[in-house]
Amino acid sequence: MRHFVSIDDLSNFEIQQLFRLADQMKSQFSTWSGFCAGKVLATLFFEPSTRTRLSFESAMARLDGRTLGFADPSASSIAKGETLADTARMVSNYADLIVVRHSAAGAARVMARYATVPVINGGDGAHSHPTQALIDLYTIQNRKGNLADLTIGICGDLLYSRSAHSLSKVVARFGGRQIHVAPEGFQMPDWILRQLKDRHGVQPSVHHHLPEIIGKMDVIYVNRLQEERVPPAVDLEKARASYQLNAEIMAGAKVDAMIMHPLPRVNELAYELDADPRAAYFQQSANGVPFRMALIASLQGLEHLVLTDPPAQQSLKDDFASVCQNPNCVTAMEGPTEIYTDGSCAYCSQ
Ligand code: NCD
Repeated sequence: MRHFVSIDDLSNFEIQQLFRLADQMKSQFSTWSGFCAGKVLATLFFEPSTRTRLSFESAMARLDGRTLGFADPSASSIAKGETLADTARMVSNYADLIVVRHSAAGAARVMARYATVPVINGGDGAHSHPTQALIDLYTIQNRKGNLADLTIGICGDLLYSRSAHSLSKVVARFGGRQIHVAPEGFQMPDWILRQLKDRHGVQPSVHHHLPEIIGKMDVIYVNRLQEERVPPAVDLEKARASYQLNAEIMAGAKVDAMIMHPLPRVNELAYELDADPRAAYFQQSANGVPFRMALIASLQGLEHLVLTDPPAQQSLKDDFASVCQNPNCVTAMEGPTEIYTDGSCAYCSQ
């Protein structure tokens, strides 16, 4: 049984296999409908979502499977203090596959540890959002081809954006160049920078103002300030102004650049850009369905055809008494952590 909790759970070969399957699912739709008949997907959304939850539900419906779950945890037993471990054990009896979104970093990893069915991470706090990053990569490859020839500008709130974290890892893994544009105080966290350097020898240049560097980018990836995670004293308007994208600033970009955004947008991406042929963000959100169909099918029957080359797993230290120092790590609520031999937490990566 395979889970998809982190980008590190799939090899590059497996990711390309998933993309081939997603292409087939788009082009030969009727061949695939019915693939999940009789199967149930649980969508456990402890945090708000529109695209991720609905596109998982749409993907399952298009495979003729069913979904159950919640989008409002106050109506579930979590509100009574049930642990994620118990929720995972219990939901495993009701569903064949679980998608979970939660505000704590590492929450999906906890569920994967205790579930007896595959678990997919639909976003865990400010940590990671691996399905979003693969949809981003799929969209880039479809429009522009091999990432190795491209410069990807990752712009906005790089500190708290889980989508930016997972994308940054994916770009490094597939050999793309990356430029970071972040307001002061919103730069990529150390744990990502450490992984980029140690695993890939990559040290992205860091900028604070998008107009100064936009001309170098093939992909301009913007995200919103993650206000729900930003401390109240921070001046959000000032931060947003440094990377706001509009038609005037796009005049300085390459004519064949691509504008991306995981959405929802607040006011960092002007509506006037929707008519610009370089805008790719609605295509990006549409690709969520075929990609998630491919992922669901690959965890529910096609494992032996698609997920055939698992990546090597990092080794754990033999030290079960460890406590993670990150207050947003799920292990602060759910018990001891596990530490990789490089010293990072196996749940939140810090
Ligand atoms: C993202 C998320 O939830 O992290 N949304 C999404 O899944 N497309 C981005 C965001 O909320 O800013």
